[in-house]
Amino acid sequence: QGNEAEVAAFSVPSYACQRRTTLENHNTVLTDALSLLAENAELSEEDGRGVAFRRAAAVLKALPKPVASMTQLRGLPCLGEHSLRVIKDILENGASSEVESTKQSERYKALKVLTGIFGVGARTADRWIRDGIHNLRQLQDSGPTLNRAQQAGLEHYDDLNQPVSKSDADAIGEVVEKAVVSVLPGAHMTLIGGFRRGKLTGHDVDFLITHPEEGREVGLMPKLVSWLESQGFLLYQKTTRNSYLESKDGPARPASNMDRFERCFSIFKLTKEEKRGTKHPETLTENGTKPAGHKPWRAVRVDLVVSPISQFAFALLGWTGSKLFERELRRWAGHEKSMSLSSHALYDNRQSKYLRATSEEEIFAHLGLEFVPPSERNA
Ligand code: GTP
Ligand code: MN
Ligand code: MN
Repeated sequence: QGNEAEVAAFSVPSYACQRRTTLENHNTVLTDALSLLAENAELSEEDGRGVAFRRAAAVLKALPKPVASMTQLRGLPCLGEHSLRVIKDILENGASSEVESTKQSERYKALKVLTGIFGVGARTADRWIRDGIHNLRQLQDSGPTLNRAQQAGLEHYDDLNQPVSKSDADAIGEVVEKAVVSVLPGAHMTLIGGFRRGKLTGHDVDFLITHPEEGREVGLMPKLVSWLESQGFLLYQKTTRNSYLESKDGPARPASNMDRFERCFSIFKLTKEEKRGTKHPETLTENGTKPAGHKPWRAVRVDLVVSPISQFAFALLGWTGSKLFERELRRWAGHEKSMSLSSHALYDNRQSKYLRATSEEEIFAHLGLEFVPPSERNA
């Protein structure tokens, strides 16, 4: 009996947005391996392969227990030949030769180190590698021109590669909240991104800000940034109009509201006073840069997003993640419902109209999906 239960095949729906994926992952060895191959593909600008590995990893994250044999995987969606080969290798030999050789490869190691610099993407890293730059020392020695983001990224390299704890996120949240209500009384701030999904650490902290009266949020971002800057909280900031998705996903936005939707990529200076006794983790650096310890503050990446209240539910859903969950929501909307979803709006192509929503629950309902709470969007 027990044996039969063990080989019973798993069953999961094919879109990640149809599944509930908590942080409890019973297959971390397999998903870590597939995620590494996904990352390697993304760093090599092979996005199609990257998504395929991400989808395969997400299916395994949704399984109720560890995979014990290949037969249990029969009939599961999104597991291509390549992913199955990797899984089989690990189940049979304890490790995947492809994953191990990727991890050891000079190119992968260099791409990791270089894209670990805030402001450096796969393309820049690739160009540097072709110029013989494989690590931070070689970067500093050969001195290619760095933009403002990359200079800040290099300067705060060690801090920014330290995971951000929930207590750091909360401390920054208090500062941002104070800034928000000082520059626009009545405005609201919400924690989004990984911390809203219940993660205990993150690579950054993400906040969404709105005002209950439509239009009052206009001009908020520059005021907010000035306040934070004047108080010495920002080591770097770049404010932009949000133009993500729009180019890819066509008409899923009311054009007139576009200018209002803003985001700010920043590097925050989190001081001891703000952290109030939470201890900064002392770390050793392997990179030949200045150690992060012994200073009474740390640098933290912070993303700020401002949304008009009419788009708030879409922004909240679109910025809570995970990235794969978001991608799958948009794929579901397009392929299964002939709708286009963005973090501004939902457009129904059959009815040729925008579908309004004031909560995430309503958006899931429009999409014909069961509501999935943030803590179960960890695909
Ligand atoms: P960590 O920060 O690594 O802990 O995970 P995270 O899930 O918070 O990732 P991240 O901060 O990179 O992104 C949070 C969410 O914002 C994800 O759902 C992304 O898809 C989304 N996101 C990131 N960049 C953009 C953007 O430029 N526009 C929009 N609309 N969404 C974005
Ligand atoms: Mn984040
Ligand atoms: Mn972010």
